[in-house]
Amino acid sequence: MKRRTRAPVGKPKRRTEATGRPGYLHGYTAHEQERLVRQARFLEDAVHDRLPFRRCRRLLEVGCGVGAQTEILLRRFPELHVTGIDRNAPNVAAARRRLQACAFARGRFSAEVGPAESLPFRAASFDGAFLCWILEHVDDPARTLAEVRRVLQPGAPVIVTEVQNATFFLDPYSPNTLQYWMAFNDTQLELGGDPFVGAKLGNLLLALGYGDISTAIKTFHFDNRTPGERAEFLAYWTELLLSGAPALAKAGKVSEQLVAGMRRELDVVARDPDAVFWYSFVQARAKVQ
Ligand SMILES: C[S@@+](CC[C@H](N)C(=O)[O-])C[C@H]1O[C@@H](n2cnc3c(N)ncnc32)[C@H](O)[C@@H]1O
Repeated sequence: MKRRTRAPVGKPKRRTEATGRPGYLHGYTAHEQERLVRQARFLEDAVHDRLPFRRCRRLLEVGCGVGAQTEILLRRFPELHVTGIDRNAPNVAAARRRLQACAFARGRFSAEVGPAESLPFRAASFDGAFLCWILEHVDDPARTLAEVRRVLQPGAPVIVTEVQNATFFLDPYSPNTLQYWMAFNDTQLELGGDPFVGAKLGNLLLALGYGDISTAIKTFHFDNRTPGERAEFLAYWTELLLSGAPALAKAGKVSEQLVAGMRRELDVVARDPDAVFWYSFVQARAKVQ
């Protein structure tokens, strides 16, 4: 019997026809910048729970965006200096503005424009790394994690937090919303990203020679036991879904009717006294060895 050869860890490259390069579905508007700040604060308990950075002094944050996670890291770890890098210049400028205005962050961060796949830092420059909601957007997650490993010192911890978009579920059943979600994920794949990368973090880190790898599946499961949190989370999720609508409509991936249908369904779910929301993401921990 012929043995099947496995594709290398990673994913096939897909590019937008329009731009020929990877893109970012949510866009780079001021509204999206504010959404990232709200999102980081809203998810802080789940994302920043017991991170292993107490002994770190020079942390690298790849895909720092507008500095929303940086602010939380600097607040939680008073002895930390964070170097952020992001390919989007307006986001980096916003990060600098935000953090300069933050008394406890002053003198404790720098932010640079650059690609995650080719980090402009010398080997072993940092003693920890934090990546959150970025690998889903990069063209080559394996190369990015290899670069992170290169610039970390031996023994340095790395935390990678990522989406696993196949886990989304709503009750009452919401077919327009699920169809929209499929279009959202298909488009992210076409843009060169990977909305399912969370499930692959263990494989990626193992193939790159990281040690002490663990993955935590963190689930938001809201029902009648926590109606207040369910309502808050549904509002957050509705904003997240709609943040992709302009780009998806422009690319012809969703129709006005589908978006309107999704809005109606989300409204029904928000009013339903027995509604259920479910979504899981993955947080991987590893060490450079
Ligand atoms: C969803 S945002 C997350 C930002 C931040 N980590 C947070 O949680 O608020 C993704 C960020 O990754 C950046 N990004 C995407 N691909 C990148 C790449 N190849 N190199 C550097 N930054 C990238 C985007 O510009 C954007 O700022």
